[in-house]
Amino acid sequence: MKVAVLASTGMVGQKYISLLAKHPFLKISTLTGKSSVGKTYGEAVHWINQIPLPKEFVEMEIKDTDPKNVDADLIFSPLPSEAAREIEPSFIAAGYPVVSEASAHRMKDDVPLVVPEVNPHHLDLIKLQRSQNHTEGFVVTGPNCSAAGLVMVLKPLYEQLRIKKAIVTTMQALSGAGYQGVPSVAIIDNVIPYIPKEEEKIRAETLKILGDRENGSIKQAELKLSAMCNRVPTLDGHLATLYAESDIDLGVDQVTEALSSFKGIPQDLGLPTAPKTPVIVREELDRPQPRLDRLSGSVEGMSVIVGRIREGLDSKSIRLVLLTHNTIRGAAGNSILTAELLAAQGYLDGA
Ligand code: COA
Ligand code: MG
Repeated sequence: MKVAVLASTGMVGQKYISLLAKHPFLKISTLTGKSSVGKTYGEAVHWINQIPLPKEFVEMEIKDTDPKNVDADLIFSPLPSEAAREIEPSFIAAGYPVVSEASAHRMKDDVPLVVPEVNPHHLDLIKLQRSQNHTEGFVVTGPNCSAAGLVMVLKPLYEQLRIKKAIVTTMQALSGAGYQGVPSVAIIDNVIPYIPKEEEKIRAETLKILGDRENGSIKQAELKLSAMCNRVPTLDGHLATLYAESDIDLGVDQVTEALSSFKGIPQDLGLPTAPKTPVIVREELDRPQPRLDRLSGSVEGMSVIVGRIREGLDSKSIRLVLLTHNTIRGAAGNSILTAELLAAQGYLDGA
């Protein structure tokens, strides 16, 4: 299957290239950009991944971001949100399936906002989009990078252990803000206790993802959720602490069991980018840590790593730490897994 990567020179665009270089059935046919249109990818990109730029992309020409320049069966869009608002609809109108990382369309009633292990059933909103828009094209979105890991932890807690209230505090890495995102002099030797719009996004998106599918939209989950976000000087991997309260007694063993046995359709189907264990629970007192743990698991960067599970204020509450690789599970990796699920469920047939 041929795929196009928009905004291909950016931090998330680069992550698509490194992850798709070895993919069994998704092959990059088109790379697009803006200021570097007409250059080769090798000339244009500030490559910042640890693996070298795969040879087949060095000479690939960057195309203008327009449906008529694209030869693909599916579009991966890590465009900045403002750009996505304008550009993604033109690809949908041209009949393309678009898997987007941008926040522009995430909260629309007929747009699935998906973490494949958590709410694959929301993908049937695609049928609604297709009939409303009179085109085979559609958009599926992935959540904010912190919400992506949080929902994998909250899903079993909310559904099996009746969590009613949760407070999350994030310590977010620099790559989520892009190459020029946070100036080095602002963040070295520092923590910035504000990330624009992040707290609102985490709350709204989490409640949508955990919500029930209703006629024509998603009913928000009944969970009181508060998020506090900080930018810290790590490169990759969003760490977060979570406090959660239930209306029943919770034990550490019970919480550990609910999290470590959590699985979804991607694992049942054995999709290539599905990690064997979506939530890995560590026992050490000082783990997870971003630098040590962000790539652990059977598919690098796709598992959420949890640790320090302990009682909260009383026996009905718990505290824990979670780590999400922000550009993999929080962006490109989650979208690639979504594309694999779309293919497995027939949503890409004839597109
Ligand atoms: N039309 C077409 N291309 C556009 C564009 C537009 N309106 N706006 C930006 N682009 C292009 C850039 O010009 C650049 O291409 P170029 O090198 O040819 O000029 C390319 O997209 C990548 O730039 P940018 O996205 O700014 O890269 P970045 O590394 O600075 O930022 C993100 C990366 C991820 C922060 C950014 O793409 C984004 O906000 N994405 C959506 C949300 C997201 O994925 N967040 C990350 C979670 S970890
Ligand atoms: Mg930028």
